[in-house]
Amino acid sequence: MKTHRALVLLAFALTACGAPPGGPGETSTVTAPIAAPVDDCTGETPLVPGVPGSPGHLVPTEISPDGQSELALMMRTMQADLRAAREAIVAGKPVAGMRERHRKMRCSWPTTASDRNPVFDGFAQAYLAKVAVLETAPPAQAAEAFHGVLDACRACHQQSCPGPIAAIEALRITAP
Ligand code: HEC
Repeated sequence: MKTHRALVLLAFALTACGAPPGGPGETSTVTAPIAAPVDDCTGETPLVPGVPGSPGHLVPTEISPDGQSELALMMRTMQADLRAAREAIVAGKPVAGMRERHRKMRCSWPTTASDRNPVFDGFAQAYLAKVAVLETAPPAQAAEAFHGVLDACRACHQQSCPGPIAAIEALRITAP
């Protein structure tokens, strides 16, 4: 049915990464079976041309006046979030909200298009799993879980771009 296919396409467009959030409930039809929640950001999600950080739309920053890709900006966010998480853990406070933000790494424009490949996505999923462990860890295990997250940052960088490894290691919680 033509109309049904149009609805499916519309639902997809609304949930595509970088598109304005659309309520999945608003687009489902009465007759459609209730589907399991679809991850709107995977290694397969088509990237949206023209968004900040996409090719031709790099975002100039203080550290990079020539502009940064969407993924590079996400990495900077992750680095800042982990710095804040380290403070929280040392103060015995919970860590929350990172997985929801960082999951967008799977559907962000990299500087080099070929960097978004199945190997990258595998490492990204492993990383996000470690973040989920951290966000549910009891306080006594938070430091260990935090180091698990850093190990996952490092694992991906070891096989792709080793430059930031020193910055990743600098985030470790050391004995006071
Ligand atoms: C799944 C692979 C992967 C994981 C996990 C990962 N990175 Fe990256 N990182 C990359 C890639 C690829 C780039 C290059 C991005 C670009 O230039 O578009 C990058 C770039 C960076 C940069 C340089 C950004 C810039 O300004 O150019 C920093 C810093 C960084 N990562 C830190 C981290 C930290 C900290 C973590 C963990 C919180 C992490 N990365 C986890 C793949 C990964």
